[in-house]
Amino acid sequence: MEKPIHDEIESRRTFAIISHPDAGKTTITEKLLYFGGAIRDAGTVKGKKTGKFATSDWMEIEKQRGISVTSSVMQFDYDGKRVNILDTPGHEDFSEDTYRTLMAVDAAVMMIDSAKGIEPQTIKLFKVCRMRGIPIFTFINKMDRQGKEPLELMEELEEVLGIESYAMNWPIGMGKEFLGIYDRFNKRIEQVRVDEAHRFLALNEDGGLAEPHPMEETSYYQQALEDVLLLNEAGNEFDEERVAQGELTPVFFGSALTNFGVQTFLETFLQFAPSPQPRQTKEETDIDPYAEEFSGFIFKIQANMNPMHRDRIAFVRIVSGAFERGMTVTVPRISKTFKLTQTTQFLADDRETVNEAVAGDIIGLHDTGNYQIGDTVIGGKSSFQFNALPQFTPELFVRVTAKNVMKSKQFHKGILQLVQEGAIQYYRTLHTEEVLLGAVGQLQFEVFEHRMKNEYNVEVNMEHIGSKVARWIENEGDVKESMTGQRAMLVKDRYDNFVFLFENDFAMRWFHDKHPDIRLYSLL
Ligand code: G4P
Repeated sequence: MEKPIHDEIESRRTFAIISHPDAGKTTITEKLLYFGGAIRDAGTVKGKKTGKFATSDWMEIEKQRGISVTSSVMQFDYDGKRVNILDTPGHEDFSEDTYRTLMAVDAAVMMIDSAKGIEPQTIKLFKVCRMRGIPIFTFINKMDRQGKEPLELMEELEEVLGIESYAMNWPIGMGKEFLGIYDRFNKRIEQVRVDEAHRFLALNEDGGLAEPHPMEETSYYQQALEDVLLLNEAGNEFDEERVAQGELTPVFFGSALTNFGVQTFLETFLQFAPSPQPRQTKEETDIDPYAEEFSGFIFKIQANMNPMHRDRIAFVRIVSGAFERGMTVTVPRISKTFKLTQTTQFLADDRETVNEAVAGDIIGLHDTGNYQIGDTVIGGKSSFQFNALPQFTPELFVRVTAKNVMKSKQFHKGILQLVQEGAIQYYRTLHTEEVLLGAVGQLQFEVFEHRMKNEYNVEVNMEHIGSKVARWIENEGDVKESMTGQRAMLVKDRYDNFVFLFENDFAMRWFHDKHPDIRLYSLL
């Protein structure tokens, strides 16, 4: 490694971009990778019209549906920092995957479409970030189009999301009349469509332009100046500590598509985004990133990422210490040790073998079926487990069988692997051993069916049994089969825990009245 380990760790910035679909997450990711030198031309990651696709869109189904289903990781260096961007699926049916990814980052960038404002999926994802108390940076996108008034957007942020905000910059006009941004933080104006040498205009002490400029004559400039003075008077103060606590979100306006304001955003973001943070264990201790012992947790497992490599990769967020290729780690859940020789790092257009990585980084471990989502890996003698990753209570269920009974072996293998990946949840009926699958969103079933066919060569029958209210049981020992019925089905989950699937809320309440001593609970 080039620097001492401590400095290496301190230089890491690991974050995810969250947004409602179509706000511009892919577009800005592409621009960030471009600035980081990870891709050569800012058009190679994704262009739905050009037929090229983001490296994160590795699955056939994503191409067909034009949605980003799975999360991926991209890494680049900028300004002495090593940046890890974790991509998240925008579609709400894959929220569980996104939630797990958010456990692996230290900050989030929230993209908002200036014409749409705060959308439903933004609210959901924002809440998870809030729960974790991670810093949230807001990028209000598409200023090259006519959108809502900036003050209205700021108000919406505070009212709908309940987070205080600080505008780092302010748009001067928008749409066809978008002239640039008034950069409060760097005390300059950045103009659009102006060559590099004349792009920035300095501001004076009073906040006006230092040198006379034709822009001053426009109503857009006058309006922006008025707004900024209002913000100076009545807005929140910038407070680095509150940003770090996730209580105040710095807001940036820009246009990802025309690549305006993105570089300034990146530079300011890297200055305030936190370096790797500690993580709590089930034993309620904090593991410090600078601790000597290597540790991390698996937040994602992805099979068959690339048809060229038919393999499975477990994504590890390194929490502490340094990873070296060939090291031996323990997985406390199964008390097994593994020598890590086949490991992967994620650069934008390639998968490279990684030899060394430190806290904050994400590495991919080659997996032959040993790992599970949520597993802790430790490089030393300690034994602890990081807090469990969130699991959702599924609401939709199907009964699934192989169309061809001769394919039973492949069928079970496919299900096992997709369940271990967290793509879908597994349940089985008690005596008949029928396989039920649970999901948060319908698309998960479609992805399941598609992948079973394409990756495991098994066609499946899926019989919808509709939505159910799933409840786990605190005092499992007290459950009797006589308590079950058509409207309260008893099944087992993949860990062999009992789960009741109630027809609806009414059936659950009825059950509760009849068996008040059975203590039911739901997951997230
Ligand atoms: P997502 O990953 O958040 O789902 O959004 P994505 O980047 O795919 O962007 C969604 C659409 O919004 C794309 O248009 C993209 O070109 C457009 N877009 C992103 N940033 C900006 C911006 O700053 N200004 C404007 N005007 N548009 C922006 P599309 O027509 O759906 O896709 P494409 O065919 O252009 O790729």
